[in-house]
Amino acid sequence: MASFIISLTALQRNAQVLSNVAKASGAHILLALKAFSTTSCFDTIRPHAAGCCASGLYEARLAARHMGGHVAVYSPAYRESELTELLEFAHHIDFNSVPQWLRYKEQCLSHPRVQSGQLQLGLRVNPCYSTGHTPLYDPCVPGSRLGIPAAELEGVDLNGISGLHFHTLCEQGAQELIDTFRAFEKSFGALLASPRIKYLNMGGGHWITKPDYDRAALISLVKEIRECYNVEVYLEPGEAWCVHTGILKATVLDIFDSMGYRHAILDVSASAHMPDVLEMPYRPDVYAVRPAGQANGTPALQLANESYAAAGEANELAHTYRLGAPTCLAGDVIGDFSFDTPLQVGDELIFDDMTHYTIVKTTHFNGVPHPTVQLLHENGQLHTVCALDYTDFEHRLG
Ligand SMILES: Cc1ncc(COP(=O)(O)O)c(C=O)c1O
Repeated sequence: MASFIISLTALQRNAQVLSNVAKASGAHILLALKAFSTTSCFDTIRPHAAGCCASGLYEARLAARHMGGHVAVYSPAYRESELTELLEFAHHIDFNSVPQWLRYKEQCLSHPRVQSGQLQLGLRVNPCYSTGHTPLYDPCVPGSRLGIPAAELEGVDLNGISGLHFHTLCEQGAQELIDTFRAFEKSFGALLASPRIKYLNMGGGHWITKPDYDRAALISLVKEIRECYNVEVYLEPGEAWCVHTGILKATVLDIFDSMGYRHAILDVSASAHMPDVLEMPYRPDVYAVRPAGQANGTPALQLANESYAAAGEANELAHTYRLGAPTCLAGDVIGDFSFDTPLQVGDELIFDDMTHYTIVKTTHFNGVPHPTVQLLHENGQLHTVCALDYTDFEHRLG
């Protein structure tokens, strides 16, 4: 059975880095649940996170129930029933448009938690400054629905707004954040400087836990913002908590030649289990599992009695395969990879770095069995925390 395996030791390592940055900068660093919501890992993250960022009521409930701490909510649009419930327990509610803010303004301002300051209200703004290269993940593309451009804020009644939020980055460094903040400052600096604004949320997309991320530059930017503008600064990365913490382990089901390619069909699907492979598009690092001592590849985590041989580009090593899914989608292909020895039916392959934006996005497309979710504990023990079966497949289809 295919399995997502998450290393608690690796999660702890990332969490410690983020917590050091939070301490040094004074930023509040939240976990973006859209990237990773496996609550059985929250004991590892909780001591290091200020709380969670949620994309709506369900994630907010999950945050309050399983993480605790600060619950910051932003959604492109709230249903009235959703907002009514969020008012009871969220700490930040950020609105995506002027009409949403004006529609709910009176309801929010008359709520005791807003009046007492337990809940603060903000606007997601759009600095219209692109630093990314993938339009699908760029909220600053022309015609974007995400965030209010400065021109749309002119003359709007902001009484009751005490926060500003922007999210524009994706897998980026401190310099891109600095450049974005400077662009944001040009359009929204006067508003940020006004005494009504108490918090600035600079979204996610910060690759803070990557070894080459310039954490000193981030720390000094956050300190500067706190000092110059007298606001609390929030960051809400998702990927940075989880990068290089887990794998997806798959099994080879079939091997055959067709139209000049050697195909290996696996028990996992790019579409159903690792959609970024198709959406970004993204080429994962792949390893073949070998008996202990027979190889020396280094995926994010290593299991007892296993070692790993890194796959190469197509034709780089002796045996090239097109790794495909057991679904009917013609493009459900993970890519062309080569191996030092021929693959056999039953061999296991590892897809590296598969914790974030995977488990939260899986489907039962084509009825492909859902991989189990397992935690790798510090003592090397594996513990299954999710094992969906046929009944789950049937139930979710109605
Ligand atoms: C509003 C918002 N905040 C935070 C994040 C988390 O981003 P990342 O996982 O890239 O750090 C996202 C991701 O899309 C987002 O849309």
